Amino acid sequence: MQAPILAANWKMQLDIAESAALAKKIANELPRGNGTVILCPTVAAMPAVSLAVSGREDILLGAQDCHNQTKGTFTGATSPAVVAELGCTYVIVGHSERRQLFGETDEVVAAKVAAAVAQGLIPILCVGETADERKKGESETVVTRQLTTALASVPPEAPCIVAYEPLWAISHGAPHPATKAEVTPILKQITTLLEKRSATPVLYGGSVLPDNVQEFVTPDAFAGALIGGASLTVESFLGIVATARRTYAI
Ligand code: PGA
Repeated sequence: MQAPILAANWKMQLDIAESAALAKKIANELPRGNGTVILCPTVAAMPAVSLAVSGREDILLGAQDCHNQTKGTFTGATSPAVVAELGCTYVIVGHSERRQLFGETDEVVAAKVAAAVAQGLIPILCVGETADERKKGESETVVTRQLTTALASVPPEAPCIVAYEPLWAISHGAPHPATKAEVTPILKQITTLLEKRSATPVLYGGSVLPDNVQEFVTPDAFAGALIGGASLTVESFLGIVATARRTYAI
């Protein structure tokens, strides 16, 4: 994992043909350079996306979620073993939409992180507070609880990425950017909590755009970004990648 790490979370926004077409454009237009690029399409699109980026070993794949068991009677769920079989290196775990819309608790997230690690996948563990929690001054407490619970049973040497995504800054349609000053104290807190683990990159997520990525992704701030809305077009995603790479090269 080389910084900057730019991960595209396409959520449920693209069908299989659209995912493959966007992946192909990215594969054709992404200049070779420093850093890691990760594409996270809807899981059924993984074979088509994998084919679209074949030959670009610098573009890696991630799933958006997985179950905490390898096999079993879990209708509709995707096993971490299948995620690995699909060619994914990464899996997003504990995204706020999973926590809020699918009721995933810290304990469920912890079990998924452990299952992903046991499978040899690198979890991209998402943490972040709601607008309400932030208003009440609880940001640090919430993020600490989410992080310590999720990583409790993960060996310190297991590779892992953490993504700090304050829910109040996630776009849900219209961008809602945070400022560097607002997120820096939480980054410090996360960095302190991760001190005893082997190098764990911390990404920022929430309305990252080509013209604000340099606020967050710098060698003395976040190691990369998890990008939703702005990863859905080749222009904005590659604009983010280019800016982040330039900032990191300085
Ligand atoms: P956004 O989404 O970039 O559209 O705010 C980020 C995320 O939810 O991971």
